[in-house]
Amino acid sequence: MPNSPQISRADQSSTPHHHGGVVRRLLPSESGALLAHLMRLDEDSRRDRFGMAASDAFVRQYAERSSQLDDLIYGFFVDGELRGAGELRGLGPAGARRWSAAEAAFSVERPWRRLGVGEELMSRIVRAARNRRADTLYMSCLSRNTAMQSLARRFSAELSFEAGEATTALAVEGPTAFSLIYEAMDDAAGFATAMLDLQRRALSRTARL
Ligand SMILES: CC(C)(COP(=O)(O)OP(=O)(O)OC[C@H]1O[C@@H](n2cnc3c(N)ncnc32)[C@H](O)[C@@H]1OP(=O)(O)O)[C@@H](O)C(=O)NCCC(=O)NCCS
Repeated sequence: MPNSPQISRADQSSTPHHHGGVVRRLLPSESGALLAHLMRLDEDSRRDRFGMAASDAFVRQYAERSSQLDDLIYGFFVDGELRGAGELRGLGPAGARRWSAAEAAFSVERPWRRLGVGEELMSRIVRAARNRRADTLYMSCLSRNTAMQSLARRFSAELSFEAGEATTALAVEGPTAFSLIYEAMDDAAGFATAMLDLQRRALSRTARL
C-alpha cells in the first residue's frame, strides 16, 4: 500500500502547522521534561493516556522506566516547554536487531488539543516504526476514547474492541530512502533546536541568579 494515507502522512518531512510549537525528538537528558508534562495532565487525561487511574507515584515510576528502556520519544515544545509527547517502544526478543512490532502512546495537554499536534506526533512515530522495520504498530486506549480512535483512523489503523478497551493495529510498510532521509533531516533540525532550548534555559537560570 505505497500510497495509503498512513504512509504518505508518515513519509513527509516537517510541514508548517498552526499549533505554534516545535516537534522534535527528546534528548536522553530531557526525561525530566516528560515527567513534568505527564504530571500536568489532568485526572481524565491521565486515565485516557494510561488506560486507568494513574497516581503521581505511578507517573513518576513510568517516566523513570521509559528513560531506562530507551523509548523513542517525540515531543511537542512551546517556548521550550514540553506540551505533548508521542512515545514509541519496540516489541520483540531482547537484543534483537529489528523490531517485530512496536507500541505507541500519545498525550497532548488540553490547551494545545485539536490543533494538529497529535497528528504530527503520530506521523513521526509511524515513520520511526517504519524505519525500524516494525511490521505492526499497536496503540491501546479506553473504548470511550474517541479522540485517539479518530486519530488512529486517519492513519488507516484497524480497531478492535474488548472489555472496555480498544486496540488499534496499524500495518507498517518497510522503509524507503525518503522515509530514512526525512527522519535524519528532522532529527538534525530537532537537535539544533534542542541545543538552542538548552542554551536559552541556561541563560534564563543565570539571569535569575
Ligand atoms: C488523543 C490526543 C493525543 C489527540 O491529540 P490532538 O493534538 O488533539 O490531535 P489532533 O489535533 O492532531 O487531531 C487530529 C485528528 O484526530 C481526531 N480527533 C482529535 N481529538 C478528537 C476529539 N476530541 N474528538 C473527535 N476526534 C478527535 C480528529 O479527526 C482530528 O482532526 P480534526 O481536528 O481536523 O477533526 C489528545 O486528545 C490527548 O492527549 N488525549 C489524552 C491522552 C490520550 O487519550 N492518549 C491516547 C491513548 S495512548
